[in-house]
Amino acid sequence: MSDTLATLNSPAAYSSIADKLEKGLIVQFPRCPFPMPDEADQEFLRTEMPRHLSRKNISYHPETGAVHGLKGDRAMTERVTSILKNHSAQVQEFFKANAPTLTQNWQVATCSFRPMEEAGRNLSAHASNELIHVDAGAYGATHGDRVLRFFVNINPNQDRVWISKGAFPKLLATHGVAAGLTPGGMGSRIEESPVGRFYSAGLRGLSHFGLPLSQVLDTSPYDRAMRRFHNYMKDTPEFQNSPEGLERFSFAPFSAWSVFTDMVSHACIAGRFALVSTFVVPMANCRRKELVPFNILKGSAGH
Ligand SMILES: [Fe+2]
Repeated sequence: MSDTLATLNSPAAYSSIADKLEKGLIVQFPRCPFPMPDEADQEFLRTEMPRHLSRKNISYHPETGAVHGLKGDRAMTERVTSILKNHSAQVQEFFKANAPTLTQNWQVATCSFRPMEEAGRNLSAHASNELIHVDAGAYGATHGDRVLRFFVNINPNQDRVWISKGAFPKLLATHGVAAGLTPGGMGSRIEESPVGRFYSAGLRGLSHFGLPLSQVLDTSPYDRAMRRFHNYMKDTPEFQNSPEGLERFSFAPFSAWSVFTDMVSHACIAGRFALVSTFVVPMANCRRKELVPFNILKGSAGH
């Protein structure tokens, strides 16, 4: 029995997903709970994308409607756009039907396809999926809002393999001091100053005019603390190599899973051909306030 994994076998169980995610569980579905891209589109992604990849992944960006990471002709770009956009819509519909509390005012972020074998990709440490981490900073500043992801393994022959060392509350309690976050570290300065808030609001205003760079430039004490924890995990071999709390999960062909990746530590150590949908969920949507990383960081500073 895993402390970190919950399996939802039937539609009757789907409505428990928000609570399980908020608890810091990886929720898995033995079979993707909604229609996947059809066989021809899957085969197209699996055979064509590895040869036409120009970045780490191929990603559909709903805010602009553009696909990044692909070097292909117009027809190919349009087909990929349509597949990823439709898949994102399926994931959104699933969450709206089964976890409506999480979806209010959420931000639908990228839907990406990961065409390369994850084992031995030799990416730099901070970009590597093979090192255990919690997600931080990949979508600019969240100011405490949550990073929710939904994964589907569309490799017909190969599992996608993850390892984890559990969720944020325990990780911070165990490693917060070494990471320089507690006590009295960055966690104690998690509340934003009025100037910081003004700066962020100004950047958000700019981003309405289509300047996504402003989101990247944005930051907050919370985001800096989470980034620090992310980097501590990836830069600390003792953390990566110790067997303490280590769990391993194999996600079978055509299975799916979802998790708050800002909360549950994870690394993908093997596997190829996954669809990954990302959402930023307002912190206020979470009902288990005591488990929200922002609140834990704040509490750990003695507030
Ligand atoms: Fe991650």
